[in-house]
Amino acid sequence: MHVSPIILGIESSCDDTAAAIIQNHTILSNVVANQKVHQNYGGVVPELASRAHQQNIVPVVSEAIKQAKIELSQINAIAFTKGPGLMGSLLVGNSFAKSLSMALNIPLIEVNHMQAHILANFIDDANETKPQFPFLCLTVSGGHTQIVQINDYFEMEILGETIDDAAGEAFDKTGKLLGLGYPAGPIIDQLAKLGDPFRFSFSKPKVEGLNFSFSGLKTAIMYFLQKEVQKDPEFIANNINDLCASIQKTIIDILMEKLIKAITETGIHQIAIAGGVSANSEIRQRIKELEATHNCQTFIPKFEYTTDNAAMIAIVGQLKFQHKMFSDYSTNSVSKYTL
Ligand code: KG4
Ligand code: ZN
Repeated sequence: MHVSPIILGIESSCDDTAAAIIQNHTILSNVVANQKVHQNYGGVVPELASRAHQQNIVPVVSEAIKQAKIELSQINAIAFTKGPGLMGSLLVGNSFAKSLSMALNIPLIEVNHMQAHILANFIDDANETKPQFPFLCLTVSGGHTQIVQINDYFEMEILGETIDDAAGEAFDKTGKLLGLGYPAGPIIDQLAKLGDPFRFSFSKPKVEGLNFSFSGLKTAIMYFLQKEVQKDPEFIANNINDLCASIQKTIIDILMEKLIKAITETGIHQIAIAGGVSANSEIRQRIKELEATHNCQTFIPKFEYTTDNAAMIAIVGQLKFQHKMFSDYSTNSVSKYTL
């Protein structure tokens, strides 16, 4: 009897240590250890991140195996994040994956983190139907903002991307100006639900083609807040919900305008989203609306497959296993890694 392979995925590119087990496109376990050490610093401290990965990786992988109700010896291949990400963090996942692959004498599979965010849409329970090629994906995370045309699993073309800050950074940096914790994205999402998105308006950048820019928005908001706080020291506290709603609307308007331009230019109406910012409730809603307004079919992955996770690494592992795309032990970690 043919038994489909069981694959372990390991993700350690930034500040989450994650492991997942997949079989037949179905996630058997998906474990994430969030690193709390960074909260006091308003951002990820790379050296602390790699140390925490070292502490977390064995317990996280053990837990993933336990929750999947399998034995270590049943794993048929190990997939890990090669890049992009923080070098020290990536090296922990890379060396752990190599060691385990050697010890179990099973194939090693390298994974591009940005491809993985996109291909998370193919996990069995990620969304009800799966995208058909070619489709467009708006990938929005803490480090990247891209519109990608996906012609096949491993044939992707970046149509546009940010020339400065990523969308997630726009949430996190403006959130910092508002005195919110890190990461600010999920906090802004919650507070925005109570606010008026039309209360404040901020000018949008003019950028060529399908590229994005978010650094000007951050500066505009900084000057706006300085001016208002001079008049009323309680301005931020008194208007926090409206500020969050208005900032969130501006960031999403910028994203949607370019995505719609990409739909018009390519004629592709299969639209997916991916990456941490796609956890945002407003952007999920706005993407869904494309079905009615632009005759699109949309793919919005389940919440747990949007922010960094190892299920997305495991699905790529499974797809690469089917295509026999294995890596040898000379594979290195790369902090910048294009699609
Ligand atoms: O994909 P991800 O988990 O890590 C990277 O690869 O960067 O994305 C993290 C980013 C952070 O900037 C965080 O603020 C943002 O995703 N994020 C959100 C939400 N949840 C996470 N932004 C807006 N609304 C959310 N609900
Ligand atoms: Zn990510």
